[in-house]
Amino acid sequence: MREANSPEEQAAYNDSAVAIAEQLTEARRALMMPKMTEAATIEERFGPLERAGMGVALEYERMGNQPVTDGLKERADRYGFAFEHLGITIGTIVHGIDLKGELDADLVRFIRDVLLERKVVCFRDQHLDEDEQVAFGRHFGELDAFPFGPPGDNPYIVKIQASHRAPARQNLWHTDVTWMEKPSLGSIAQCIEVPPIGGDTLFSDSHAVYLGLPKALSERIQHLHGINDYRVFLARDPGLDPDFVESMKERIPFGVSHPLCRTHPETGKTALYIHGGFLRHDSLFDVRTGKPLPKEEAEALVASLLTQHSRPEYICRYRWEPGSIAFWDNRAVQHYAACDYFPHRRLLQRVTVSGDRPFYDPDAAPRAA
Ligand SMILES: [Fe+2]
Repeated sequence: MREANSPEEQAAYNDSAVAIAEQLTEARRALMMPKMTEAATIEERFGPLERAGMGVALEYERMGNQPVTDGLKERADRYGFAFEHLGITIGTIVHGIDLKGELDADLVRFIRDVLLERKVVCFRDQHLDEDEQVAFGRHFGELDAFPFGPPGDNPYIVKIQASHRAPARQNLWHTDVTWMEKPSLGSIAQCIEVPPIGGDTLFSDSHAVYLGLPKALSERIQHLHGINDYRVFLARDPGLDPDFVESMKERIPFGVSHPLCRTHPETGKTALYIHGGFLRHDSLFDVRTGKPLPKEEAEALVASLLTQHSRPEYICRYRWEPGSIAFWDNRAVQHYAACDYFPHRRLLQRVTVSGDRPFYDPDAAPRAA
């Protein structure tokens, strides 16, 4: 049994603790006051060790220290829609909207602008059938069919399902389909069946993550690229006919180069852009010279980058209900589907909107939303 303090020992300790707290507070006030003027920057206020809080604060400052711009809020008010924000810089549920049927150009532009400002836009109680969900996706561009998942009756739908026979496998931080030369701009998932508890999807703000990286790290990765491929899908089916696998690789390139820092083509913001399952961890190279990094250095760098998105400060969490939709921007966020509901069932159906080739522009200035 552990020995507890006697009442006298406890009282003596507490007396000392209270006295030290008073002295320390005085000393800190004297040391900090000259530095913490109103003009102090966010970096100065947070200091070098509070990277995640600082990253979020810098991103929020860039958003005008408000979750959405005044203009977007006014447009929502005119429609009679209500915003429910999930995180300070990321994720918004738009209430009062009906996505069935024809959407006019202004409403499509509104949804796209919510996506650009908030990175993830969500809706409740939509209950779109497969064709309706595909039609909704087409408002935002071409669609990418998905070659590695079970399609729905509509070939642009992919079913994301888990049950007691096949537990979920999407529980890693990632951005979708980085094995594509032009990865999908965004994904639109709708919940069909939800477990009684759990099964949430978490989203992490890749722009805030980038701003929160230690300076030396963000400078180190500025011009680095890595090779991404879809080997994880092939590894799930080791019995596949090699000729079929070869013909697959001829039709869909196996190994494409992407930057670790990705500039958003519409907002001008840069994101940390990485998928731990698709990226070959030893494949980093400097895109200016083509020179590869030593294997150990590349792997250590990737390992460190893969821990960044999991800091709670960057994350919002979406609780699914049947008919819930989440539309996320793969250029601005990573996501993680919590695998915490076995043996229950969970079923989502997803369409993906075609994107462009990722690039990094060190001179890009984030545009006003
Ligand atoms: Fe995903």
